[in-house]
Amino acid sequence: MFNFDETVLERLQTAKKIVFFSGAGISAESGVPTFRDDLSGLWAQYDPMQLATPEAFRRQPALVWGWYLWRRQRVRAAQPNAAHLALAQWQAAAGADRVICLTQNVDDLHERAGCSEVLHLHGNLFSSLCAECGQSVDEAALPKAHQTRAVDVEFDPNGQEITPPACRACGGHIRPGVIWFGEALDSQVLDRSFELSATCDVLIAIGTSGVVQPAAALPSIAREAGAYVMQINPQETPLDAVAHSNIRASAAQALPELYKHVHKGQ
Ligand code: OAD
Repeated sequence: MFNFDETVLERLQTAKKIVFFSGAGISAESGVPTFRDDLSGLWAQYDPMQLATPEAFRRQPALVWGWYLWRRQRVRAAQPNAAHLALAQWQAAAGADRVICLTQNVDDLHERAGCSEVLHLHGNLFSSLCAECGQSVDEAALPKAHQTRAVDVEFDPNGQEITPPACRACGGHIRPGVIWFGEALDSQVLDRSFELSATCDVLIAIGTSGVVQPAAALPSIAREAGAYVMQINPQETPLDAVAHSNIRASAAQALPELYKHVHKGQ
């Protein structure tokens, strides 16, 4: 099904450090909608600026918190797909210092597939913190009705309004630990991402539209530093011009095949 270019295989077989840079497309085949995919686009239901911003949360905390609880429930019900599993297998074979998982996704499917030390550029759907004092809150410490493990809680697929719990320390609203539009990324995570992109031998961008900065700059940083850059995406993106090779396929088809070809005979 796939005839990978010999250069691609050689670069991957000799690489001392590979960065897998994933976007929402890697989770698409787990049934978790991407942001801009017309068919299942999560945003198709809402204007992103209506929900994923601090202003929206201040204005309508119950709608935003209810929508994130529904998203948590949906990710909990999803399973890592063959792409997540192939990436985890690659890391297990080479070691977490040589195969790095750097994601824009807020889901935990890379971790559940077995990847370690996953870097989340845009935060983590399952972390929560107080919107006022910033104190973080484990999901287990949330009231049961707000825990997505609580199987008796069914959230309306259209994002029902659920008033967020109050912070035990200051009484402020609890919010999801994700980066909203207009918010700064965690500077340590961003610096580490820049450093990894500038020092890797290969960067593979998987399932990202490559339009949201500063994350979208990482493949260019890698290329300018001399790395071999690849892209796996069924659609064309601005990263086509940055990548040395583009694999026009879905992640769940291409990644397991790429792993097999690179590790053939090993
Ligand atoms: P997008 O929804 O912008 O792009 C998803 C990409 O995945 C598209 O280019 C699709 O062509 C591709 N795709 C769809 N199905 C695929 C599959 N089966 N295999 C491989 N690729 C597939 O998602 P992101 O690029 O991740 O930021 O979006 C980047 C950021 O924009 C998100 O992290 C989010 C959003 O604003 C924050 O939440 C801060």
